[in-house]
Amino acid sequence: MSDGRQSWLLSLAILLLVLSAQNSQARLTEENGVKSAIFLSPKFVLKPGSVANKFYFDIGFPRGHIGIKNFNAEVVDEAGNPVPLHETYLHHWVVLRYYQREGVEIPKYNGDLGFHQSDVIIVRNSGICNHGLSQYFGLGSETRRTATYVPDPYGIEIGDPKEIPAGYEEKWLLNVHAIDTRGAEDRLGCTECKCDLYNVTVDEYGRPLRPDYKGGLYCCYDETQCRVRKGFISATRSLYMRYTVKWVDWDSSIVPVRIYIFDVTDTWKRSDETTKLSTRHDCQVEYVIESCNSDVTSDGCFDTKRVSLSMPTGGDVIYGVAHQHTGGIGSALYGEDGRVICSSIPTYGEGEEAGNEAGYIVGMSTCYPRPGSVKISSGETLILESNYSSARRHTGVMGLFYILVAEPLKPDSLFHGSVKMHEKLTAPQFVWVEVLLGVTIAIAALAAYRQRSQREDGYQSVV
Ligand SMILES: *[C@@H]1O[C@H](CO)[C@@H](O)[C@H](O)[C@H]1NC(C)=O
Ligand SMILES: *[C@@H]1O[C@H](CO)[C@@H](O)[C@H](O)[C@H]1NC(C)=O
Repeated sequence: MSDGRQSWLLSLAILLLVLSAQNSQARLTEENGVKSAIFLSPKFVLKPGSVANKFYFDIGFPRGHIGIKNFNAEVVDEAGNPVPLHETYLHHWVVLRYYQREGVEIPKYNGDLGFHQSDVIIVRNSGICNHGLSQYFGLGSETRRTATYVPDPYGIEIGDPKEIPAGYEEKWLLNVHAIDTRGAEDRLGCTECKCDLYNVTVDEYGRPLRPDYKGGLYCCYDETQCRVRKGFISATRSLYMRYTVKWVDWDSSIVPVRIYIFDVTDTWKRSDETTKLSTRHDCQVEYVIESCNSDVTSDGCFDTKRVSLSMPTGGDVIYGVAHQHTGGIGSALYGEDGRVICSSIPTYGEGEEAGNEAGYIVGMSTCYPRPGSVKISSGETLILESNYSSARRHTGVMGLFYILVAEPLKPDSLFHGSVKMHEKLTAPQFVWVEVLLGVTIAIAALAAYRQRSQREDGYQSVV
């Protein structure tokens, strides 16, 4: 294709995008003053049993000084149809905020950061792990039926020009980890990244795995292959993450929230003055559930993992949700006095269709305490608890807990706005899909164009 035609296509895409975005925003503003846009990630390609673990820098995202009200995502095919988890298992997706030095191109990214560290500054959430789990947004298989809206008068503040270092721009990075389990010999095993099913004995960088490492992310990195039934043939297909962001322009009536992510595998221990070593929050992210003794009935087979953690800066809890994998049966965060700060329970699907896939966690219950009714004090010791069924062995499971915390509201703001809640997340996403089809098409065209131009530059936006 000639350059002229490409730029024409690009202009058309942008025009469509602008037109549709204006339409959608107008419609939204009428309803509640919240803007909304739907974006598509670059395309990733999967065949039966294969894994994609992609890192996309500089993804589409609303710009400016704004307050994020909601972030939803799902995997769709090229026609825009939602893809069920039993075909493409969405292991996780995370969205990271970062500052990139102006005028610097991020070259091909290959797992380890292929650029000067000072060119990219990850803007971590408020804590508390020392490494990893620094995302602003992220979920897994439960994405479609987990509420993520930030209630009024709160918002996740981004794009404040006062905070962005001189010479840098704020951008966003998407990591998507998806496993194609069509025709898999052992579907659950593939989703739990069991190393033998992937025939993997070394990690992504060729380093041998510990002999006792039986499953988890080190065995299902990008382009690994899970075992598929003999003779099973199915088409390779192109997929996208489609994500919907809702936001408001920032103003002084919005109360900023801090994002905390706790991990039940955190090795932190409260230390006395003499043992400084244990003050780090080394979050392992994954753990293993051993199968219970076979002479116990499966009814009594539960695994409870707890960790005690210290909350750096307290405030009002305005949202809470846990993240668990298949086998998970609930998770809770408790205060120092034993009160329940939030309890989050998985919903398992019962059918075939996307959003209701039998055997998968398709949603997590959330907590929206009335502002001011659930408080955490600074330095308070919290207990995080994650329960799994141990009727069988599970590898690579997770026990995370996300909370949003805000400074207490001033008395006058309690009477304005704080009761104006958004509708609960059930099916309305599908309505947006129709309304914003124009955006989707425009962005698909844009993404296709970008991908092509990136390839031509020798740049691949993949790990
Ligand atoms: C598994 O990996 C080994 C070593 O990398 C290789 O020799 C063997 O053929 C693989 N087996 C299968 C079934 O792919
Ligand atoms: C987890 O299991 C323990 C029993 O081991 C129970 O007391 C607790 O209520 C459970 N928590 C959740 C959140 O399900």
